[in-house]
Amino acid sequence: MNEENDVAVVLGTRPEIIKLAGVIRNLGPRASILYTGQHRDDELFESFFRTFKLPQPQLLLTGISGSHRSVQISRATYQLADHFRRTRPRVVVVQGDTNSTLAGAQAANYCGIPVLHVEAGLRSNDRTMPEEINRRLVSVLADVHCAATPWNAANLVSEGIPLYAVRVTGNTIVEATCESLPGAEESQEVLRKYDLHEDEYILATIHRPENTDDPDRLAEILDALAEAPIPVVLPVHPRTAGSARTFGLSDQLSRVRSVPPLDYSTFLALASRARLLISDSGGIQEECTILKKPLVVVRRNTERPEAIAAGFAVRVSHRREISEEIDHILAKSELTRALINRPCPFGDGKASERITEIALAMAEGAPLPPSDRFNEFSYSIEPHGGQGGAAGRALLRSPVQ
Ligand code: UD1
Ligand code: UDP
Repeated sequence: MNEENDVAVVLGTRPEIIKLAGVIRNLGPRASILYTGQHRDDELFESFFRTFKLPQPQLLLTGISGSHRSVQISRATYQLADHFRRTRPRVVVVQGDTNSTLAGAQAANYCGIPVLHVEAGLRSNDRTMPEEINRRLVSVLADVHCAATPWNAANLVSEGIPLYAVRVTGNTIVEATCESLPGAEESQEVLRKYDLHEDEYILATIHRPENTDDPDRLAEILDALAEAPIPVVLPVHPRTAGSARTFGLSDQLSRVRSVPPLDYSTFLALASRARLLISDSGGIQEECTILKKPLVVVRRNTERPEAIAAGFAVRVSHRREISEEIDHILAKSELTRALINRPCPFGDGKASERITEIALAMAEGAPLPPSDRFNEFSYSIEPHGGQGGAAGRALLRSPVQ
């Protein structure tokens, strides 16, 4: 039996590379990397392959990046299915909720190949989010669901996914972050390069359509950032850069310290030394609990209530709330210390190992590792942690009031 390349790993964006790097590395020659090219810029793609020392993709799709959602998904599904029909991997691994994730799951399912979904069961219940639709569709297509947290697993089970197909593994972001976080000297070097002082700046990212596709919304967020009392570093996602150009908001962008998207180690160095994070990113809602940094989530809702329930994050939406929360957190100098001992609700750094074991079992047609094998890994979060708002704010504030 030729076991090389029998586990196809489909990915196409920055966060998927970060979160699947450990699984790909563990799989070794069993993995074949199929990259959709949804993110094609070096800053979002090759830079991350280099950071994680990943081999070149075996398949790199064309005509995906920058096109409409329907085109991305249909073209990628078509090309991937064509590849699967020829190569017949034994299992296909997809991660998260992007258009690439959905294309990978559809192509595999239509070719009769079992699908393993990593980071399954997140729910914002916001049907206007492309990611919410993608993740729900992937849950229908997937055969095995690796939930990062018990809350994610509970969502899946409540939708009728059988318990035997769900495993709580933790989120692979924990090991990715721990592995890539630079040491003290290197981090100081990064601060010097950007002319920043530890604890005296804010690191922000904004890229969600709800914040970038409407000119008034993007303008009010940029205004709130520009008016913060300490410098704000803003690595600008290409979607946000495009919107700022189209809406004539380049002046607003220049009122903060805008920089191009950063490589992962540089980003983590800055995040770990910042006084405060502000973001609408999914991954940063997880990383703040690993780096023990307060985070203001600029979103209407979130599929990751765990960071709020654990007291690291507060979710706000309106411009006034963003400014108020910045002022509130900056006034609490003891907050950083208060967060240091809070446990991370997203895992213990072994998610990639567990997911690799599950993928190999699927590839070999063997039974999945029993759920109780992962019992040592447990969390103490409230199920249904809620959407933040007043409750989330109370938690973030509680240790220092
Ligand atoms: C995608 C994911 C989102 C994820 C984000 C990670 C979906 C529906 N969205 O959003 O869940 O949080 O990636 O960053 O899959 N662009 C470039 N160069 C690139 C990539 C994109 O210039 O390499 C620009 C293009 O103008 C493009 C726009 O960014 O139209 C948006 O890119 P797209 O891949 O459609 O979605 P993201 O906003 O990146
Ligand atoms: N990130 C990075 N450089 C940046 C901005 C973000 O390396 O300039 C990392 C960040 O640490 C996180 C991931 O990119 O791990 C999140 O990606 P993004 O916000 O694009 O996607 P999401 O997580 O929202 O899907």
